[in-house]
Amino acid sequence: MKKPITLTVNGAARHDEVEPRMLLVHYLRDVLGLTGTHVGCETSICGACTVILDGQSVKSCTMFAVQADGANVTTIEGMAASGDLHPVQEGFWEQHGLQCGYCTPGMIMSAAQMLDRNPDPTVDQIRHGLEGNLCRCTGYQHIVEAVQYAARKMKDQAATGD
Ligand code: FES
Ligand code: FES
Repeated sequence: MKKPITLTVNGAARHDEVEPRMLLVHYLRDVLGLTGTHVGCETSICGACTVILDGQSVKSCTMFAVQADGANVTTIEGMAASGDLHPVQEGFWEQHGLQCGYCTPGMIMSAAQMLDRNPDPTVDQIRHGLEGNLCRCTGYQHIVEAVQYAARKMKDQAATGD
């Protein structure tokens, strides 16, 4: 039997009825059409499905949609809501942080949440913070540089009040 859920996704209130077994990632993609959140492993390993839920990065393949009832969810579609790229998105663009791009939305969500907690991470802290996000293309060096770019940009924005 379907259950009613009410949550906020990228700033918009959503009310839906979902099967209790529906995963949050499938709710976002199939019900709301927010296909930027990707499905990789569906076993909580790859991080392609990462979203921000009430200020925490979570793997949306690991939660049921009904567990997000009442929550505030941000997906990759909500990161440039004003039309300007989020600094982490800009960093991936400027530093060639993406290759095939499949893992990129999850990487961006995890990186943004990491920078919220720690605005000035070391390289080791960046690598540790992204341990739950796998990129199957090649190395992670450009991804780390993208996060460093974002950290610098956010620091500059904070200093100038932009
Ligand atoms: S699809 Fe969720 S962690 Fe891989
Ligand atoms: S850019 Fe292809 S899996 Fe990461």
